Amino acid sequence: MITFPDRFYWGTSTSAYQIEGAVNEDGRGVSIWDTFCRTSGKIYHNENGDVAADHYHHWAEDVDIMASLGINAYRFSVSWPRILPEGRGKVNTAGLDFYDRLVDALLANHITPFPTLYHWDLPQPLQDAGGWPERATAEAFAEYAAVLGRRLGDRVPCWITHNEPMVAAYAGHLLGENAPGVQDIFATFSTVVHLLLSHGLAVQALRSVVRPDAKIGIALNLSPIHPASDSPEDRQAADIYDLGANRIFLEPVLYGRLPAGMEALPLPLDMISAADLQTMGERIDFLGVNYYTRAVVQHDPEAFPLNAKQIQPEGSEYSQMWEIYPPGIGELLERIWNEAKTARPDLRLMVTENGVCVADAVDFDGRVRDTRRIAYLRDHIGEVWKAMQKGVPVDGYFVWSLLDNFEWNLGYQMRFGLVHINFDTLKRTIKDSGRWFGGVARRNGLED
Ligand code: FCB
Repeated sequence: MITFPDRFYWGTSTSAYQIEGAVNEDGRGVSIWDTFCRTSGKIYHNENGDVAADHYHHWAEDVDIMASLGINAYRFSVSWPRILPEGRGKVNTAGLDFYDRLVDALLANHITPFPTLYHWDLPQPLQDAGGWPERATAEAFAEYAAVLGRRLGDRVPCWITHNEPMVAAYAGHLLGENAPGVQDIFATFSTVVHLLLSHGLAVQALRSVVRPDAKIGIALNLSPIHPASDSPEDRQAADIYDLGANRIFLEPVLYGRLPAGMEALPLPLDMISAADLQTMGERIDFLGVNYYTRAVVQHDPEAFPLNAKQIQPEGSEYSQMWEIYPPGIGELLERIWNEAKTARPDLRLMVTENGVCVADAVDFDGRVRDTRRIAYLRDHIGEVWKAMQKGVPVDGYFVWSLLDNFEWNLGYQMRFGLVHINFDTLKRTIKDSGRWFGGVARRNGLED
């Protein structure tokens, strides 16, 4: 048996657009994902989040499920267009009421709420005004943070500003695979800058209105980057990939500086002032780490924009998405801590997402025997524990996801939940992995 420290957070994660549905109810405005899903050919089978897991109507049942399993933390995201249908200005009280009820129900069940302010669903009116490439969007985000903080800040102990700014920027503005579907390197870079700036502004806005003991962080998706071979070209490719995937987010957030090597890239770095960098580095209490896989990278002169491309190594195990590589989570946590511990000795880390999609189904007797997911979670939790034995200060581990849900442009075919959703009837079925993870949470550790 390996045991975790007392009061370790054993949680699950979700996001608003992926689970809530009810896109036209109670005054919710339109988000860029509503618009993107209506663009033919962007989403698998042209699916959308109109109903999703209908959590907006099933939230009480979903809280009961977590409570029955013994889960003690829940990371969800708030839909910005439910709170401010126009993005800024007029507040929609019915939207605030929804999250208020959710927070109260969680607290009543001894489940710590971890709201995330932005999980990619920008209000469409802000997109129409230019979206994240515009600085005004960062200012609007801070206003939204203050509105939410004022309403929930007396009770919510832990806040997360952004989820995975890298994906919002790169998948949304470079590859065009996610909303808003832009493909422009400069829009991508200014999106990175304004997401990071908005993070710092939101930390400041929250601190001025929420309980003084509230903890505030951000969730970054980070990966160890391994060169495909020992050749100097591949090693250089891995290094620049690490710059674009990890350091460009980590260094502004943790140290208020741009990483070394940025000067070599053809980017308008002068759009970032010293004051902006300081804001990006506004002190956070914890860094959320979303980990799914590593990246193995090869030099490729054709690969835009970094001359580096990801390959899938032979001999590894794979899921429907990504290589399964449990040691990567420990390697990543150790690296972050080794870099941060001198400058930020009080920083805490949290695994804010980790999980796997498996094509699982309800068996004849009503059970979902998702043994592969159990193995994935067990192996990754074990690696987190090993990193903690080496002194890495980890306070929690959140499974992505509580429920099967709308996996962005891949639609409903990718199931990540501890709870199976029948998307026709919306029936919830707790998978074997859900019961297994509940056991881990209740025991506060892994059995041998
Ligand atoms: C992460 C996202 C989350 C989900 C998982 C599978 O990148 O934060 O919304 O899509 O991947």
